[in-house]
Amino acid sequence: MNGHGLLKGKKGVIFGALNDSSIAWKIAEAVHREGGQFILTNAPVAQRLGGLEELATKTGASIVWADATSDEDLTKLFTEAKTLYGGIDFIVHSIGMGLNVRKNRPYDDLNYEWYKKSLDISAISLHRTIHWANETGALKDGGSVVALSYIGAQRTFSKYSEMGDAKALLESIVRSYGYRLGKRKIRVNTISQSPTMTTAGSGIAGFDAMFKFAERIAPLGNADAESCADYTVSLLSDLTRMVTMQTLFHDGGFSTMGISDELIADLAEVYS
Ligand SMILES: NC(=O)c1ccc[n+]([C@@H]2O[C@H](COP(=O)([O-])OP(=O)(O)OC[C@H]3O[C@@H](n4cnc5c(N)ncnc54)[C@H](O)[C@@H]3O)[C@@H](O)[C@H]2O)c1
Repeated sequence: MNGHGLLKGKKGVIFGALNDSSIAWKIAEAVHREGGQFILTNAPVAQRLGGLEELATKTGASIVWADATSDEDLTKLFTEAKTLYGGIDFIVHSIGMGLNVRKNRPYDDLNYEWYKKSLDISAISLHRTIHWANETGALKDGGSVVALSYIGAQRTFSKYSEMGDAKALLESIVRSYGYRLGKRKIRVNTISQSPTMTTAGSGIAGFDAMFKFAERIAPLGNADAESCADYTVSLLSDLTRMVTMQTLFHDGGFSTMGISDELIADLAEVYS
């Protein structure tokens, strides 16, 4: 797809590109295509796992390593962003990690230290990010903050476990901070994305089944990472300047469906 210059002149910070299947990786490519400039950031431990340098070279981005649960790292990151750009117009928060989920601890037998860490990484980090972007004077009036969520924040998806709690908190932070930043015309939204084949996604037990279930129900099928990136571009652009405090479903229609003919046919076969 050719760019339309939708983000020309806009500068920002993109969290969470780990490898080329990451949603944030596709977002960085789409933002670059639309003329935006950005710092790429991820946790220091991701340095040995990913290929962020490759993405940075491709998109002309700088890299600043920062743990999104560390006030010190975030202060350093946004101070550097302010020095580099004078101020930023957007933040993309594409971070998630469920420690109990990864280690197969069931919801009714959580390790509470891991649970706290999961909430800290997956949700409270959004609060910290906005806080330090503000505190350092980096976040400009009229900006846009976008975080990634999942429908498990609002409905029970059994295998999503503690991550449902984390996403519910994330969506609440979006509303609470969105209210406070509205006076400066800064928008804060989450995109509630379809199951997507990424490192974080496939770390959830039963992910393949959740992916297929959603694919069989959504009239448009599951939304992939590339289409999520295009939707994110729209939210970072001035075209959506009056949209804030929302959880926006980007799921091919899944969230509005009950059951589909395709799934009925599957179930009829299974139970025949
Ligand atoms: N994949 C899906 O099915 C799906 C569906 C809906 C929403 N999401 C959300 O999309 C976002 C991106 O996930 P993804 O699917 O692209 O997977 P991913 O694994 O590529 O991205 C998750 C990122 O979080 C980063 N991260 C973890 N701990 C961190 C920390 N302490 N500090 C900074 N960064 C840290 C990881 O390094 C990684 O880059 C997450 O919020 C995820 O919950 C994913």
